[in-house]
Amino acid sequence: MRMPVKQMFLVVGAVTLLSVVSPMSAGSVFGADLANAKKVYKDKCLKCHGETGKGDGPKADTLETKAADYTDKKKMAKFTDADLIKITKDGKKPMPGYATKLSDQEIVDVIAYIRTFAQP
Ligand code: HEC
Repeated sequence: MRMPVKQMFLVVGAVTLLSVVSPMSAGSVFGADLANAKKVYKDKCLKCHGETGKGDGPKADTLETKAADYTDKKKMAKFTDADLIKITKDGKKPMPGYATKLSDQEIVDVIAYIRTFAQP
């Protein structure tokens, strides 16, 4: 079967358009850069807070205090974004502070990412 040339251009055009648009729309919710936040989370937070935010990372068992379960909607509703940002910046023993390690934007983004764990 041969495809008419005109139809082939249409297919190529649609695929190109999709590949340009999708990373942008998937990466940003409410203006947060979730794709980058995910990288930051995996790199810096996952070892304690866990892959899905349940507070069950590989290092979690060695900590004297357990981190919150970010998939627990009720628990998460008690924290404002400002609370979460402040704790991330200042730290809360045994968690280190990230004020000097991450930019303000990265901290805002990573908190937006943490919020996605409690979404259905
Ligand atoms: C060394 C392990 C460790 C690392 C690494 C870590 N945390 Fe935590 N984090 C904790 C623990 C433990 C708590 C709970 C502290 C408490 O309630 O006293 C906590 C608390 C928090 C809280 C407050 C809500 C809660 O769970 O009680 C936020 C928000 C938070 N961490 C975000 C982050 C982010 C963002 C990162 C990465 C940039 C990160 N943490 C890295 C261990 C860690």
